[in-house]
Amino acid sequence: MKLILGIESSCDETGVALYHTERGLLAHTLHSQIALHNEYGGVVPELASRDHVRYTIPLIRSALSKAHCKLNDVDAIAYTQGPGLSGALLVGSSVACALAYTLGLPTIGVHHLEGHLLSPLLSNPKPTFPFVALLVSGGHTQLMRVDSVGRYALLGESIDDAAGEAFDKSAKLLGLEYPGGALLAKLALGGIAGRFKLPRPMLHSGDLDFSFSGLKTAVLTLTQQHTLDAQTRADIAHAAQEAIVDVLAQKAITALGQTELNQLVIAGGVGANKLLRERLHHDISKRGGTVFYPDLEFCTDNGAMIAFAGAMRLQHQEAQRDYRFNVKPRWDLQELNYAD
Ligand code: KG4
Ligand code: ZN
Repeated sequence: MKLILGIESSCDETGVALYHTERGLLAHTLHSQIALHNEYGGVVPELASRDHVRYTIPLIRSALSKAHCKLNDVDAIAYTQGPGLSGALLVGSSVACALAYTLGLPTIGVHHLEGHLLSPLLSNPKPTFPFVALLVSGGHTQLMRVDSVGRYALLGESIDDAAGEAFDKSAKLLGLEYPGGALLAKLALGGIAGRFKLPRPMLHSGDLDFSFSGLKTAVLTLTQQHTLDAQTRADIAHAAQEAIVDVLAQKAITALGQTELNQLVIAGGVGANKLLRERLHHDISKRGGTVFYPDLEFCTDNGAMIAFAGAMRLQHQEAQRDYRFNVKPRWDLQELNYAD
């Protein structure tokens, strides 16, 4: 099995890619729904599903054309089976299974977070197993020990909001559009360091868990106490970013210490944050370790990571051929572990 078609549709991005096990990533195409959900201040699940219906097949066509391949060249189809919005997942899954049935190809249902976890292996230089992964997306904040494909151990996670949510909710309070993570980072560039100091929840909790919901309340209080002129908004954005990045970085470094590993992988949308990358690079190089992150375009949701994770899985497990699909809107990553 060499050429894997990957389809991602778990949330607000339709992503398609073709990954070849010997030649690498041949093509990937993406349609982001950000503009569609913008006016609602968050993802509207029904609109997301309908948009995936609109874009999945055209994106498959354009990925095939970019890769100079035909549908008949594809050997297996990987699709995001979960976690995510059920209606959105159903679109990618049904297209994948219908195509596979028609072509007589095997399918593989991929866990979205496994896609994120393995995505740095698409870039160069790549980490080698074992490593610690800091998974920071809009819905998840987890530290995982990754021993190989299918060997994942949860070291710690957020007990409430995810880091991406903390970025997005702080951004919303500052009047920025959804999803506000990248916009908040941009606003923070003009902020004065130290004017505001926000709490670092659970920094000294002694474990590797996170909590970000208090931060949102602290940002809300600041926005109520001050006149929100341009400089004040930038200063609050600066403080919010500093607080989130500080907690993520310190806990990630503690995880490296506890596992006695020296490679950290950052995956998920918040992994695109420049301050987080710089801070981790600086702190981890100082202790002789290395940080790996996916190329920026593979930090947020994309089809390449699904095609790649599907290809990795197919080296270790049987593909499905019965074409029945069941999406898993909630799905624990550790359920994926191979039996000892
Ligand atoms: O992984 P992802 O694309 O989707 C999920 O699976 O959730 O992550 C999206 C999250 C959003 O919360 C978004 O605001 C955040 O990643 N994000 C950022 C940046 N770029 C995206 N957060 C901080 N700084 C950025 N540059
Ligand atoms: Zn994601």
